Amino acid sequence: MRVLAFQVLKFLLLGGFLYCQALVHHHTFVVKDAPYTRLCSTKKIMTINGQFPGPTLYVTTGETIVVDVINKSPHNITMHWHGVKQPNFPWSDGPEYITQCPVQPGGQFRQKVIFSDEEGTLWWHAHSDWTRATVYGAIVIKPKNGTAYPYPTPHEEVPIILGEWWKKDIFEVYDQTRASGADPNVSDAYTINGQPGDLLPCSKSDSFKLSVDYGKTYLLRLINAALQDILFFSIANHQVTVVGTDAGYTKPLRVTYVAISPGQTIDLLLEANQPLDHYYMAAKVYSSENGAQYDNTTATAIVQYNGNYTPSSTPPLPNLPAFNDTTASANFTGRLRSLADKNHPIDVPLSINTPLFFTLSDNKFTCANTSCWTTQTRLAASVNNISFQTPTRMDILRAYYNQINGVYSDKFPDKPPVFFNFTADSTPLIYETPTKGTEVKVLEYNSTVEIVFQGTNVAGGTDHPMHIHGTSFYVVGWGFGNFDKDKDPLKYNLVDPPLQNTIAIPKNGWSVIRFKASNPGVWFMHCHLDRHMSWDISIIHQHEMMHNIS
Ligand SMILES: *[C@@H]1O[C@H](CO)[C@@H](O)[C@H](O)[C@H]1NC(C)=O
Ligand SMILES: *[C@@H]1O[C@H](CO)[C@@H](O)[C@H](O)[C@H]1NC(C)=O
Ligand SMILES: *[C@@H]1O[C@H](CO)[C@@H](O)[C@H](O)[C@H]1NC(C)=O
Ligand SMILES: *[C@@H]1O[C@H](CO)[C@@H](O)[C@H](O)[C@H]1NC(C)=O
Ligand SMILES: *[C@@H]1O[C@H](CO)[C@@H](O)[C@H](O)[C@H]1NC(C)=O
Ligand SMILES: *[C@@H]1O[C@H](CO)[C@@H](O)[C@H](O)[C@H]1NC(C)=O
Ligand SMILES: *[C@@H]1O[C@H](CO)[C@@H](O)[C@H](O)[C@H]1NC(C)=O
Ligand SMILES: *[C@@H]1O[C@H](CO)[C@@H](O)[C@H](O)[C@H]1NC(C)=O
Ligand SMILES: *[C@@H]1O[C@H](CO)[C@@H](O)[C@H](O)[C@H]1NC(C)=O
Ligand SMILES: *[C@@H]1O[C@H](CO)[C@@H](O)[C@H](O)[C@H]1NC(C)=O
Repeated sequence: MRVLAFQVLKFLLLGGFLYCQALVHHHTFVVKDAPYTRLCSTKKIMTINGQFPGPTLYVTTGETIVVDVINKSPHNITMHWHGVKQPNFPWSDGPEYITQCPVQPGGQFRQKVIFSDEEGTLWWHAHSDWTRATVYGAIVIKPKNGTAYPYPTPHEEVPIILGEWWKKDIFEVYDQTRASGADPNVSDAYTINGQPGDLLPCSKSDSFKLSVDYGKTYLLRLINAALQDILFFSIANHQVTVVGTDAGYTKPLRVTYVAISPGQTIDLLLEANQPLDHYYMAAKVYSSENGAQYDNTTATAIVQYNGNYTPSSTPPLPNLPAFNDTTASANFTGRLRSLADKNHPIDVPLSINTPLFFTLSDNKFTCANTSCWTTQTRLAASVNNISFQTPTRMDILRAYYNQINGVYSDKFPDKPPVFFNFTADSTPLIYETPTKGTEVKVLEYNSTVEIVFQGTNVAGGTDHPMHIHGTSFYVVGWGFGNFDKDKDPLKYNLVDPPLQNTIAIPKNGWSVIRFKASNPGVWFMHCHLDRHMSWDISIIHQHEMMHNIS
């Protein structure tokens, strides 16, 4: 099966770009286990080239690069270039069984990564099981003209990658979650650039430190690589200015904290304008599910001013919103605006020919197996009441391309089967159990698509950071409660909506996105909380005209 897929790829690579090979930058990603010590204990983790976090990729807008993924680990893996649209080339997008079968131990896979109009910060990560817990790194996309940013050139640029650390092997955590159908065990710490920081045991000497000169400005390329949580991030005594998100520029927004979804990136300018001292930057959970366990730790790193001074005995900690402050999270996300100036025009579709309404729910299946969760139920998740069943025999892209029946069906509904009070304090029990299916939504080439994502309170409401592969989208509106089809569209922002690839749909609320389906291929859409993805909250959207693939 995999050999065949590889041949298709080889053919495409030969046809597509061998002649300009000299101009193409090549990278080698060797997947291998390496021992790392955190929180007083050592375990082997999956890494790229032995590094954790993995290597940063530096590219220029519009560039195409090639990455050879060589699997010398004992586990399957696939690799995804998060937010890279890969125009007309879905073959190296990465999600397992969606666009490829996993690369097995001893195997390799050459991935062509095609940048187009993305500019700013993106990231790469594994896209199989929960291997991305340790397999991730930053992608820095520079403008064609070096430092021609639409903001003052920063003195220095620094990726700040937020993640989690489990003391247990992540495969054990994953297998146990799949077997029990319960919530996964929460992480033991959050990390900043791979380090938990001063507040966690055995971590102090390795805290990440950013040295700054008074009076200079630094660009922090913030990435949330965590598997399971939206995070709050802040720097003590400093305001920061948001200038970009998901590789699109934003209007400058001065804030004291940010909320960042797993999958999202936020570019921040930090002005070193405070008295010479040491200050903590910190990251902490935002967890909105009533009664759910959460990792209650705070990851820190240090901003230290250069110069001769006696620092405070303990650096000050920033104030972060409470773990369940939904207003603080939605308020930040809702204030992002595209830069939308003459050099960075927006092209939000104004007339829509494909309106879609997708409900996002946590659900439950009954489960006869004694290994199941206490109450004989398995947690599940669904879009429009369909809980996505990942194929295991073959990936959907190849089934589509080779017209092989029986791998998926293309009947994904445009709206939920029933409209009810989605966000009522208690929703009808009969809606708790979804249908299982491998359903694909087919979008006509060039169609203008609007999706209303409606969160529900079925089996308990929570936020869903929805991510779409193969396209970015404009977030034209959001609110709490049920979407009102008469009133809410009147309040859409069609002037400077932010362009994102991941958007947190607020707990018991809704968000509306728009995009043009002009990238032929099979593309994954899923909640970027991996426990929800593993409970099957996903659909595939397929832009038609596959024969246009170059
Ligand atoms: C690894 O991937 C291969 C397909 O490439 C699949 O047949 C096999 O079941 C996978 N193994 C595991 C443990 O998932
Ligand atoms: C590159 O950008 C800089 C800074 O914005 C500008 O001064 C310079 O003229 C630009 N050069 C070209 C060739 O566009
Ligand atoms: C998960 O937590 C439970 C309860 O603390 C513990 O018994 C179990 O060993 C943990 N499993 C993993 C994989 O961490
Ligand atoms: C129960 O679940 C375990 C773990 O997933 C699995 O190995 C076993 O085959 C299941 N038993 C039945 C009867 O489904
Ligand atoms: C979380 O940590 C805070 C501060 O350290 C503490 O006040 C609170 O009780 C903790 N909550 C839980 C649920 O452990
Ligand atoms: C947040 O949690 C605290 C208890 O830790 C509770 O008192 C408060 O009502 C919660 N707030 C929200 C908005 O749920
Ligand atoms: C959102 O935050 C801004 C700035 O802090 C504040 O002025 C506004 O009242 C907040 N809105 C809500 C709904 O909390
Ligand atoms: C839906 O439920 C919410 C929460 O219970 C309630 O405030 C609202 O009035 C309900 N809406 C309708 C239309 O019944
Ligand atoms: C979802 O599907 C299940 C199974 O087919 C059905 O019993 C249930 O009523 C559906 N729920 C909704 C909200 O339509
Ligand atoms: C798709 O849209 C592009 C840009 O708007 C246009 O140039 C092209 O002709 C359209 N193609 C089709 C098949 O509609």
